[in-house]
Amino acid sequence: MEFKPVSDDVASWEEVKLIYNSALKEIGTKLEILNDEFQHIHQYNPIEHIKTRIKKPESIVKKLKKNGYESTIENMVRYVNDIAGIRVICSFTSDIYRIAEMIINQNDIKVLSVKDYIISPKPSGYKSYHLIVTVPIFLSDRIVDAKVEIQIRTVAMDFWASLEHKIHYKFEGNAPEHIKNELVECANMVSELDAKMLSLNEEVQAFAEKSQKEENE
Ligand code: GTP
Ligand code: MG
Repeated sequence: MEFKPVSDDVASWEEVKLIYNSALKEIGTKLEILNDEFQHIHQYNPIEHIKTRIKKPESIVKKLKKNGYESTIENMVRYVNDIAGIRVICSFTSDIYRIAEMIINQNDIKVLSVKDYIISPKPSGYKSYHLIVTVPIFLSDRIVDAKVEIQIRTVAMDFWASLEHKIHYKFEGNAPEHIKNELVECANMVSELDAKMLSLNEEVQAFAEKSQKEENE
């Protein structure tokens, strides 16, 4: 069978939805397998939870318009990278990089872009690790590569992002300066909290491993 980009022969929005839903299932399963294996080896789950969504057609049309493209199925599939979105919420910052690396290394996954907003946060204070990947979808008569946006962040980063999103929406992007400043301050507190929780967890893990070793002696 021949690999084709989705845009070559997708006819309708229903078909787009089918393909992108399948892509979310494929990536979701990969993440669940990694989480289960991690639990088996290290006795803890790096993933707290996973959220998936298909972008609403209105939002896709809006995005195409904003970028000067006509609203066709072909343009949707070609130019909108986040029709299928999956958000992975982890406990610790270190888990984010572990999960990302494990996904990137799977050889049926193609990585189209990586954006590390943890090392380089957005001016808003936004932090997350973003991947745009493609995953092959095996249909009855062909294989298509479907794009998925994967956002990986900690529980604390997610808490911040959902509040900031609400504020952004409420003020239609023009929040008062003092609110924006306080959000940046909160983002700094999130980083501090994540760093402290990580070092606390490392200390506890080391303690647990030492006790285990002593017990085995
Ligand atoms: P979009 O057109 O917004 O998708 O931007 P982009 O294609 O340049 O990608 P980018 O990596 O900037 O953002 C992708 C997604 O990350 C967005 O759709 C949001 O879900 C999320 N995001 C990016 N910046 C922010 C932010 O400042 N605040 C929040 N809450 N979310 C953000
Ligand atoms: Mg987006």
